[in-house]
Amino acid sequence: MKDFHTLEDLDLKEKTVLLRVDINCPLDKGTLQIINDSRIRRIVPTVRELMGKKAKVVILAHQSRKGKWDFIPMEQHSKRLSEHLNHCVQYVNDIIGNDAKERIRSLSAGDVLMLENVRGLECETLKLDMNGHADSELVNELVPFIDYYICDAFGAAHRSQCSLVGFPVKVRSASGRLMAKEIYALRSIFGEPRRPSVFVLGGAKFGDVSPMIDHVLGSNTADTVILTGLAGNAFLSARGVDLGPGSMEFLKEEMTPENVNAAKDMMTRYGQRILLPADVAVERNGKRVNVRVGDLPVPEAALDIGDDSIEKFGKVLTSSRTSFMSGPAGLYEKEGFGKGTKELMMAMTESKGQSVIGGGHTIGAADMFDMTDGFSYVSTAGGALETFLLGKELPAVEALRYSFKKF
Ligand code: 3PG
Repeated sequence: MKDFHTLEDLDLKEKTVLLRVDINCPLDKGTLQIINDSRIRRIVPTVRELMGKKAKVVILAHQSRKGKWDFIPMEQHSKRLSEHLNHCVQYVNDIIGNDAKERIRSLSAGDVLMLENVRGLECETLKLDMNGHADSELVNELVPFIDYYICDAFGAAHRSQCSLVGFPVKVRSASGRLMAKEIYALRSIFGEPRRPSVFVLGGAKFGDVSPMIDHVLGSNTADTVILTGLAGNAFLSARGVDLGPGSMEFLKEEMTPENVNAAKDMMTRYGQRILLPADVAVERNGKRVNVRVGDLPVPEAALDIGDDSIEKFGKVLTSSRTSFMSGPAGLYEKEGFGKGTKELMMAMTESKGQSVIGGGHTIGAADMFDMTDGFSYVSTAGGALETFLLGKELPAVEALRYSFKKF
């Protein structure tokens, strides 16, 4: 049942819409140039539709956050979006000041204007709920200039920030096409997953992995969880395997007593439903070398799962009917160590079931292997997807539902 408005519920002609998107992109650390613009490409259908319906489109977005090296202005994003739309996206280095207001006022039907990085405003990241944010400077200053608010920022939907939750309290709001697609696709795939359902959890952090395992196995969203990447190594270590100094160097910040106990608890509770690597791949004399878990420790760091693990996990994935991957299986950017990630992705796309990937690095890896089109669904979200899979409320979606009831 519909619980938030979508674009067809709004009369958009000649109306000014504030469109919140998540085009937070990975940048090159040296040049500060965008290195993967898939999030920009994914909002194109919404922007095109708004332009086609003769709306005046004002885009609000963030890039990283204050104090981080990749916190940069949105001008580069506006240029990339112009290229993908084949239409000039105007840019103003302002959000709520006179320059921004003047530019919004002078928009014509079908024009698109991008405002500055919204995380430059203090109010954006204050820890407030929907009603608190509805009284923020951002919302109070921009509401008089807009007819509708549209949220297409699924990737940031887990944040209770004023550009995401404040406007729906004050103006009629709707989800954009990407946000609606993400919500419907994920609800349909994970609401009643086809069996067997297999989750592959990897990546470079393992602190968040235990609650995720507990939720997806406990709720039977997944029948089996395969652990790769640092998560796999960390669980091996928690099981008592001595991986050696190279691997432990990567793990040291994550191996807190709480995380180790949580990992042990998961293995006791779910036993064979959690699959760990039987071997790992290390770099020795410039080459990929497989080392069986029984032959550990070795001095070199485990940079990927080993070939036997790839084969075993690949079989489990090929016969799955629902598969999900979040986090690469190893250091996929490094020559020879993308094998685990690539072959597990291949097994997912070769299965007869539905396959889903999500998260910035996982999408980056799929792009690098030119495999993105093979999946049933590619989510733009990382943290938001995790929040969704943990069964928790997404504040930006909650705000849209509130607006649906109110307007
Ligand atoms: C993301 O990349 O996960 C979203 O853009 C949210 O960014 P954040 O983690 O900085 O809030």
